[in-house]
Amino acid sequence: MKNFMAANWKMNKTIAETREFLRDIIPSVKEVTDVDIVIAPPFTALSAAGDAIGTTNIQLAAQDIFWEEKGAYTGEVAPAMLLDAGCKHVIVGHSERRQYFHEDDTVVNRKAGAAQKAGLGVIFCVGESLAERESGKTFDIIRREVEKGLEGIDAGNLVVAYEPIWAIGTGKTASPEQAQEVHAFIRDILRKRYGETAEDIRILYGGSVTPENVKSLMACQDVNGGLVGGASLKPDSFAKLVCYKKEK
Ligand code: 13P
Repeated sequence: MKNFMAANWKMNKTIAETREFLRDIIPSVKEVTDVDIVIAPPFTALSAAGDAIGTTNIQLAAQDIFWEEKGAYTGEVAPAMLLDAGCKHVIVGHSERRQYFHEDDTVVNRKAGAAQKAGLGVIFCVGESLAERESGKTFDIIRREVEKGLEGIDAGNLVVAYEPIWAIGTGKTASPEQAQEVHAFIRDILRKRYGETAEDIRILYGGSVTPENVKSLMACQDVNGGLVGGASLKPDSFAKLVCYKKEK
């Protein structure tokens, strides 16, 4: 299975900074063929990023999507607009969207459905909070988010990301054992839903991934890539994550 390494820039980088990042990183990852390399800039930089990426081996993702095709939805961005800007994927259900913008499983599911219908790959995020983990609810939360969020969603072009909320931006990474335990659990739910195809669905880990810990996380059987925030903002650091096999 080809690994998948995605940069989620969140609310960072201007158009000029996006161009600069791409100018720097393209030469250092151009030989990479065994990893899908994905960057998700903010909406305002998507089009410029799409132009800068051109026909290189980097793929573009959006950080969010709306499910309607067009019309009176002030502030929203439609699936066709993301395709127009050059996107191949979209992140759906990130914990920051769930937490700050009150997106529930129904909203996340509608977004995933609209993205797939338009031909966009879905990077579907799930994860428990610290309080949920400490009260032993991790598996209940993950099961609910996966089952409800993926209702009616096909396995094709689907990537799942496990991002424990307590590990996001905190420097507190899940241990490889903690990550593998949840990834195996997610794989099992996917097997029940999709059968054998579930073996081909990439399950990414996200939450304080760095060039120092990437290799041990990627060594886990059911960890097939990463979704990276902080460490994806600098070209040299993200290039190291993409080329993690060479890291010590
Ligand atoms: P950090 O890598 O900054 O912890 O962010 C993870 C994340 O939320 C990626 O979507």
